[in-house]
Amino acid sequence: MKKFAKVVSSPNMKMAAVRELNVAPNYQYNSVIIDEDIKDFGLNKKYFIRTYGCQGNLRDSEVIAGILKEMKYSPCQNVEEADIIILNTCCVRENAEKKVFGEIGSLKSLKQKNPNLLIGVCGCMVQQEHIVTTLLTNYQQVDIIFGTHNIYQLPSLIKDAILSNQRICNVLSNQGDIQEDLPSCRANTYKAWVNIMYGCNKFCTYCIVPYTRGKERSRKSVDILNEIRQLKEMGYKEVTLLGQNVNAYGKDIADLSFAELMEQVALTGIDRIRFTTSHPYDFSDELIDVIAKYPNIMKHIQLPVQSGDDGILKAMGRRYNRKQYLDLVKKIKDKIKDVSLTTDIIVGFPNESDEAFAQTLSLCEEVKYDSAFTFIYSPRVGTPAAKMKDNISMDVKKQRFNKLTATIAKYELEKYKTFEGKIIKVLVDGPSKKNEEILSGYSEDNKLVNFKGDLSSVGKIVNVKIIKAKTYTLEGEQVD
Ligand code: SAH
Ligand code: SF4
Ligand code: F3S
Repeated sequence: MKKFAKVVSSPNMKMAAVRELNVAPNYQYNSVIIDEDIKDFGLNKKYFIRTYGCQGNLRDSEVIAGILKEMKYSPCQNVEEADIIILNTCCVRENAEKKVFGEIGSLKSLKQKNPNLLIGVCGCMVQQEHIVTTLLTNYQQVDIIFGTHNIYQLPSLIKDAILSNQRICNVLSNQGDIQEDLPSCRANTYKAWVNIMYGCNKFCTYCIVPYTRGKERSRKSVDILNEIRQLKEMGYKEVTLLGQNVNAYGKDIADLSFAELMEQVALTGIDRIRFTTSHPYDFSDELIDVIAKYPNIMKHIQLPVQSGDDGILKAMGRRYNRKQYLDLVKKIKDKIKDVSLTTDIIVGFPNESDEAFAQTLSLCEEVKYDSAFTFIYSPRVGTPAAKMKDNISMDVKKQRFNKLTATIAKYELEKYKTFEGKIIKVLVDGPSKKNEEILSGYSEDNKLVNFKGDLSSVGKIVNVKIIKAKTYTLEGEQVD
């Protein structure tokens, strides 16, 4: 039987594009409210969360898990056992969305077997009008649709869906407040994601993120630093500061700049500090100096370039040209010894000529990245680039993609080879996925290291001697 859908609020891309600048965000504390009548609702029930997309989503899923735990749900490893399934989605490229629709389709049979099963879909995908319309019309199995701005309302959405026996949609497209003190179940006990800001104001012409995540808004430094100090006390070894564009931290509030914040984080004494992602446009000299100065700031910088061609960079709205990017790379390399640089690159953006693509290849040859995430351009509904003709054929896109990944791999292996014979520090994650007797972890500059070592080292930083370099990994053995 078809259930009626109650639409409390649905997304609006025009509203999502509005930016009132120079208005500080609203901070809300302890905003999760669990009504008395549902506070034990999850007793003897299980939850399953599937997360797609970036670290921002991984962190949001930790919060969703925290909220469900407060409602007394416990986690399970298998969708078949779950009483509530949450899909935390991504829409940065079409492939990401296809996977989610595939998964929602496959959940239909579970719902038929267990009509009490609740299925929730949240995250960036449902911040888009056309997706919400499709879900409401064609995917009856979805009970709750909520967005990136109102995760904290999950308990009342669950209550509403159950009491009203209706499907609920509540997605906001406002600029977003900042919710502090949300419950969370962190996925890891020695490394943690820490949001320092939300949203993005850059509006690169191909990108959907500014519409799905709202305005750039910074957390107060005091809240961030308190969180990190607490994590350190709990024994965490590593924090990764998160934002779509961390260099813009603090520009919306009278607080520290990102460089100043990094310095304060370094002074907490936590062993390892990472950050992602930094837009080249806002990368300050002060930040380079702070990274160079403090040994507990990892010498790895993800510096997305997207293209090496000035015309394409302009059409992408990236706010820098090839020369400015290369000058920044030079400054970083001169000041930060042994820095590891990685990047994101898109091939096949509208009107990308062979010559323009050759510029991207030559930039990669010049920078010699440690590694790169490479993507085929995917038009996103509602973005300025989607109005341009997607005029590069899939064949050409694939040829360029393969050429680019081969070039990146060549320099990657060259760089990895320089580690052979060296002893480096690795934060140990656990047995490697392929071989139980081999441990794996990440080096200070974020390289995956597989090594023979002692299981008791999991969660600790150990010294590993590198014996062999492969294209995407280093192999070695523990030396202490
Ligand atoms: N805020 C981050 C990245 C967010 S999205 C930053 O600016 O660095 C991660 C990457 O996905 C982007 O860097 C870009 O390379 C890629 N990407 C974003 N939109 C895309 C699209 N429409 N098609 C293909 N790749 C895209
Ligand atoms: Fe997207 Fe550009 Fe913002 Fe990154 S900086 S999230 S690529 S709009
Ligand atoms: Fe995807 Fe949203 Fe992150 S679109 S990459 S989950 S910000």
